[in-house]
Amino acid sequence: MNNDIERILFDEEQIQTRVAELAAQITNDYQGKRPVIVSVLTGAVLFTVDLIKKIDLYAEMDFVDVSSYYGGTASSGTVKLLHDLKHSIAGKDVIIVEDIVDTGRTLKFLMELLEGRGATSIKVCTFFDKPAGREVEVATDYVGFDVPHEFLVGYGLDYENYYRNLPYVGVLKPEVYQKNDD
Ligand code: PRP
Ligand code: MN
Ligand code: MG
Repeated sequence: MNNDIERILFDEEQIQTRVAELAAQITNDYQGKRPVIVSVLTGAVLFTVDLIKKIDLYAEMDFVDVSSYYGGTASSGTVKLLHDLKHSIAGKDVIIVEDIVDTGRTLKFLMELLEGRGATSIKVCTFFDKPAGREVEVATDYVGFDVPHEFLVGYGLDYENYYRNLPYVGVLKPEVYQKNDD
């Protein structure tokens, strides 16, 4: 699996240092509050687990499952809700946690889904932001790193549902796509 990676963009230590900084910022910003961490399956799981352990607050944890890439390298353009939240967010301070915001479609879909459910506030924490990929306008409140317009894998980010379990983030060798994109 490691042999499929052309170059590493963020190693495990850089990732964990940045996660701790974001958690400290959220802990500080939500003093006296009990945020609901809404993690977006599947990609955001690794980041969510690391982040929530470092947030020093009463925090709820819930999940939504949405998908638009279906394993490939390009957004299908249609976002589907595969699984809704387990708990009500009415009267709650919600933090949507994503691994990456690229075209922005997933996040826009989620904002539209969750707005109108009576949350006190909704903010977005994404570990990676790819501003050059943006096709619809969305706001991000907490960002780990801005990344270049390249297809990345690792730390939750997948290609055909693989590579999520890499502890670092890197760029796949082109032959990996070429082998499969026919
Ligand atoms: C990926 C990623 C984000 C979304 C970002 O999810 O985890 O949720 O795409 O892309 P966008 O800004 O262009 O919408 P994906 O649909 O691949 O599902 P997954 O998390 O299960 O891999
Ligand atoms: Mn996702
Ligand atoms: Mg994916």
